Amino acid sequence: MRYLTGIKPTGDIHIGNYFGAIKPMVESQSDNNELFVFVANYHALTSVNTGADLRRMTNDVLTTYLACGLTHPNTTLYLQSQVPEVHELTWYLSCRATVSELNRAHAYKDAVANGKVPNHGLFAYPVLMAADILMFNPDFVPVGKDQKQHVEFARDWAQSFNNTYSETFKLPEPKIEETLMTIPGTDGRKMSKSYNNVIPLFGTDAQVKKAIMGIVTDSIPVEDPKDPETCNVFAIYKLMASLEEQDALAAKYRAGGMGYGEAKKTLLEKFHEYFGPIREKKQYYEGHKEEVGKLLADSQTRIDREVYKLMNKVIRKVGVDIL
Ligand code: ADP
Ligand code: TRP
Repeated sequence: MRYLTGIKPTGDIHIGNYFGAIKPMVESQSDNNELFVFVANYHALTSVNTGADLRRMTNDVLTTYLACGLTHPNTTLYLQSQVPEVHELTWYLSCRATVSELNRAHAYKDAVANGKVPNHGLFAYPVLMAADILMFNPDFVPVGKDQKQHVEFARDWAQSFNNTYSETFKLPEPKIEETLMTIPGTDGRKMSKSYNNVIPLFGTDAQVKKAIMGIVTDSIPVEDPKDPETCNVFAIYKLMASLEEQDALAAKYRAGGMGYGEAKKTLLEKFHEYFGPIREKKQYYEGHKEEVGKLLADSQTRIDREVYKLMNKVIRKVGVDIL
């Protein structure tokens, strides 16, 4: 099966992104699955307006993917801007997308409702996303719930193109992990960069410590028994600890005599034990730009093969080929 997905480089990666998006992708790698994973740097332009910032955040997502283990030979890791042909395909799909569909896009409506003055990029965002997807004919597109409608649009426009011309695109399925738990942030709400409640995966030791020691808890006194199941510290600890370790910490909660400060210290140690190797690999890739460059060059060869095959077909069907 072929999977395709992208992440927008718009902020620092947190452990919610890791457990919710990156880890499942890493685990879906196998000899039978082909993954296309990219950094959606064109899409980020709807909110990032400084070249240096975009370049830095793009590189950050790319080295994060590598450090987390998206390195299987069947995985193609690339930047969206390595496929400028998506803009050409966007145009052909724009001529299938109706204005009323785009007006119904939840992400667009939310941005406008939050006071954003929409430019054409924001309005046309779903069409570019459809082009990202359809360019590579994936079977599945793993996304968060908020992106489901965008994948459905891609499917509708693929169908419309196929009906208008002839069978060209495979219809992609959104793959949404309904069962996947929402990772709580330091204040108990969904961990999200927009809530300022994140534990940054690659923050400095001091930033990580500050985030973990700042996790909101109740005010039950040290000596009293506590309930691990209602505690944010424990909820986050569970993501990284073995069952035995979880049982051991839960027993300390229930016995009383342990303050939340101690539980947070246990979590902090666990964080470093769990993410230490990934944090080291991230530094490695940051220091070995030539290796990352070579990887992108290899991806370019694979991508180009796919792109030429598809675009030649599309160009011929719509009739803009040279006579
Ligand atoms: P943020 O909410 O911080 O802006 P994004 O929307 O950029 O995060 O999310 C990128 C990916 O990480 C998406 O696939 C999303 O589903 C996943 N993700 C983000 N936050 C969480 C969370 N708290 N729990 C589970 N998955 C998450
Ligand atoms: N719009 C997605 C998001 O905000 C990122 C994205 C762009 C994407 N193109 C894609 C995701 C294609 C999956 C497939 O998260």
